[in-house]
Amino acid sequence: MTANRWRKLLGGVAVVVAVIGVGVGLRLVAAPGHFGGGRDTPGGPFKLVNTAGETVTPARWRGRYKLVYFGYTYCPDVCPTALGIISRALDRLDPSVRARIVPVFITVDPARDTRKVMAEYVQHFHPALIGLTGTERQVRRAAEAYNVTHEKVPREEGPYLMDHSALTYLMGPEGAFIRQFPHGMAAKKMAAALRATVKQGAGS
Ligand code: NI
Repeated sequence: MTANRWRKLLGGVAVVVAVIGVGVGLRLVAAPGHFGGGRDTPGGPFKLVNTAGETVTPARWRGRYKLVYFGYTYCPDVCPTALGIISRALDRLDPSVRARIVPVFITVDPARDTRKVMAEYVQHFHPALIGLTGTERQVRRAAEAYNVTHEKVPREEGPYLMDHSALTYLMGPEGAFIRQFPHGMAAKKMAAALRATVKQGAGS
């Protein structure tokens, strides 16, 4: 083979490598949004444990909207406020609309939030509220999928706190992200948004 042919061959290989590289790059960028999870779009697959001790994935509630909130039961103020708003928003809906929405509370503090603790806690808010916990790893992965930050904050006295993001995520019947609600949003406003989403059949 002449030097010229080698150059041509190597040039061809370089083009192929470059094309594959761009393809992989595009997939990495496109995949998270496409599958409703990853860096930019909250959501995606998770594997957690419900209060009955069953391992669950989002597929369990396929066909229904999911209202997802991450927090922890020892939270002094933010989580009770958020879960109270979610509960009151659900109670403002007609039963037929409410039945299409599954409220889900995922702990970011599995060390303390065992399934028994979660079971006891969620019933104070709403009979439909699902409490999910899991291993540290399962919880970390779920939080990552939703871009939820959480960090242990030790205190000189008393139990540690958890810093955590406090958005409520609305996921569609097929699991795709629809929108998020800011912390402290009025229950009436959230109910109106939920009603409109369900009636329009968004995300399905
Ligand atoms: Ni909290």
